[in-house]
Amino acid sequence: MDGGAESYDAAYAAWRRDPEAYWAAAARGIDWEREPARILAPELGAYGRWFPDGRLSLCHNALDRHVAAGRGGQAAIIHDSPMTGTCTTLTYAALLARVERVAGALAALGVGAGDRVVVYMPMVPEAAVAMLACARLGAVHSVVFGGFAAPELAARIADAKPRVVVAASCGLEPGRVVAYKPMLDAAIELSPHKPDACLILQRPQAVAELVPGRDHDFLAAEAAAAPHPCVTVAATDPLYILYTSGTTGKPKGIVRDTGGHAVALHHSMSMVYGLSPGEVMFTASDVGWVVGHSYIVYAPLLAGCTSVLFEGKPVGTPDAGTFWRVCADHRARVLFTAPTAMRAIKKEDPRGELPARYDLSNLAALFLAGERCDPDTAVWAERLLGKPVIDHWWQTETGWTITGNFRGLGLFPSRPGSGGKPAPGYHVAALDEAGQPVAPGQIGTLAIRLPLPPSCLPTLWQADDRFRAAYLEAFPGWYNTSDAGMVDAEGYVWVMSRTDDIINVAGHRLSTGAMEEVLASHPDVAECAVVGVKDMLKGQAPLGLVVLKSGVARPESEIVRELVALVRERIGPVAAFREARVVERLPKTRSGKILRATIRAIADGDRYNVPPTIDDPAILTELGETLGPAGR
Ligand code: COA
Ligand code: AMP
Repeated sequence: MDGGAESYDAAYAAWRRDPEAYWAAAARGIDWEREPARILAPELGAYGRWFPDGRLSLCHNALDRHVAAGRGGQAAIIHDSPMTGTCTTLTYAALLARVERVAGALAALGVGAGDRVVVYMPMVPEAAVAMLACARLGAVHSVVFGGFAAPELAARIADAKPRVVVAASCGLEPGRVVAYKPMLDAAIELSPHKPDACLILQRPQAVAELVPGRDHDFLAAEAAAAPHPCVTVAATDPLYILYTSGTTGKPKGIVRDTGGHAVALHHSMSMVYGLSPGEVMFTASDVGWVVGHSYIVYAPLLAGCTSVLFEGKPVGTPDAGTFWRVCADHRARVLFTAPTAMRAIKKEDPRGELPARYDLSNLAALFLAGERCDPDTAVWAERLLGKPVIDHWWQTETGWTITGNFRGLGLFPSRPGSGGKPAPGYHVAALDEAGQPVAPGQIGTLAIRLPLPPSCLPTLWQADDRFRAAYLEAFPGWYNTSDAGMVDAEGYVWVMSRTDDIINVAGHRLSTGAMEEVLASHPDVAECAVVGVKDMLKGQAPLGLVVLKSGVARPESEIVRELVALVRERIGPVAAFREARVVERLPKTRSGKILRATIRAIADGDRYNVPPTIDDPAILTELGETLGPAGR
């Protein structure tokens, strides 16, 4: 596209000149019951609130208005499931009809505006139906990823205090059926808060037993319910809570407000992804993650596009050509996935022969996010497809991209390894420890100037103090992303690593602190550390180091097996915790702080400086012998 640089520069400059005018214009893409007279109220909330006097229904904007405008016959969601060998299309009219009734069913169970509903479902259309039904009622959903185990689900139920849980009887993983219902029952048992009712979608692969009086069959309840109209809410009312890993075992409840989210996501569809109403977006993620919330469910529907909801894996269902088959079958214009999926495809199809079997002429670009994309993978994917590959940097907290390249503004040249330039709405800088921007090309903590743009979290669920402490206190006037990186002289942002104890495993964000809590609970463990080490496929993988209590004489291999099983049972298979080592001692500072970054460098075989505060440097040599790449 010609003139891309000017277009991006012009759009970014327009936002910098008058942010409120920029977002007021974007807000015109949304139907409001009461149009916001104010765009930003800087005096409200922790850093300001967007569209404070606006009222709207997100569900109306995602469904009803499109049907009213004649889009009822267009596909809204295509559920393509190699796991079940089925492909089902829901038109806008059909999706609306289902959402109206499921909203009616939830209302009949007592759900009203502001009530929470936990959704624990795999990649089935009913997950999107349940989310939209909550939005229709002004209720607040909290979707929990299916790869989490019962205690993680329990923690979310305990914090969100849902009136109702909507779940499926099972999820389908290659080679195994994951029974959700026993995990849900265990989670409800564990949680001090109990939901009044559960709506269970029975899947034929594992029909669940329903608890009389509490559990209801999803489809039967839907069929029996009266259609429910849209309930409007304040723009600042929460649409959903999505829990994400923090540095401790207690997940953070990211709050998404309704109005800002609608405006930013609708705007992003044309600006970031260059998509017009009627075009098809295939986001290969999961509804349990933020990318799934935003680009499988809300944004494509807000924009009148078609969304492909894919139940399968990039490889093995049945092969590494499955994404290309889906793109061709449904004429996807944009594919959005995680770099790890591309690495998995590259491993199976190293010569890149599979795309040629499919007609990819309609595919305009591949977008990647969720973890740092190594330049090799970006370059490989671009050669493979002969289409632009766009890495863009995101967080659950923001709900849409912080940096990227913008199809709607004309693409500027990409730089593999960089996440692109800031989206209009974000002023990004790399800061030093004193909160001062560092020179271009120097590494610092990446921070976003306040106020954050629409759709970014206004706070954490019922935890304003934790929100301030976690994000706003380190650098007054800035939001701390906890990512380290740099901004180069031309304004490209390079995201290199986290500054906290979060690791990124196959695009999944996980807390090493949470894993350490699990390891520490084992009766034979005196102390432990978990670090993320390099993994060719998944980017990072967790590695546990444990020091055993004195006198423990059991075989180490047995203890390690138990530790691996314990993490799977308490956090879930998604943690992919498969490796633990028993060591004599852990490297620490003189004040007793475990030197995790040094452990990671040793395990990765990277060069490292001996920290000046280390208690006993000899331990690093010992660790190198057990952990160095040769040792692993
Ligand atoms: N429900 C239940 N279990 C799940 C699950 C779910 N929704 N998702 C993953 N798991 C399980 C897997 O079955 C696996 O279990 P196992 O230990 O018994 O094999 C474990 O969690 C680890 O899963 P995963 O990290 O997906 O690894 P994998 O080896 O099965 O697959 C990839 C590797 C690269 C194909 C896969 O990680 C992938 O598709 N990644 C893309 C992730 C993504 O889209 N992230 C969203 C960011 S945008
Ligand atoms: P999540 O909240 O699960 O989306 O994870 C957010 C984190 O993933 C970010 O803070 C980064 O550490 C990492 N991340 C996401 N996208 C990118 C990207 N494009 N480049 C580098 N890191 C990324």
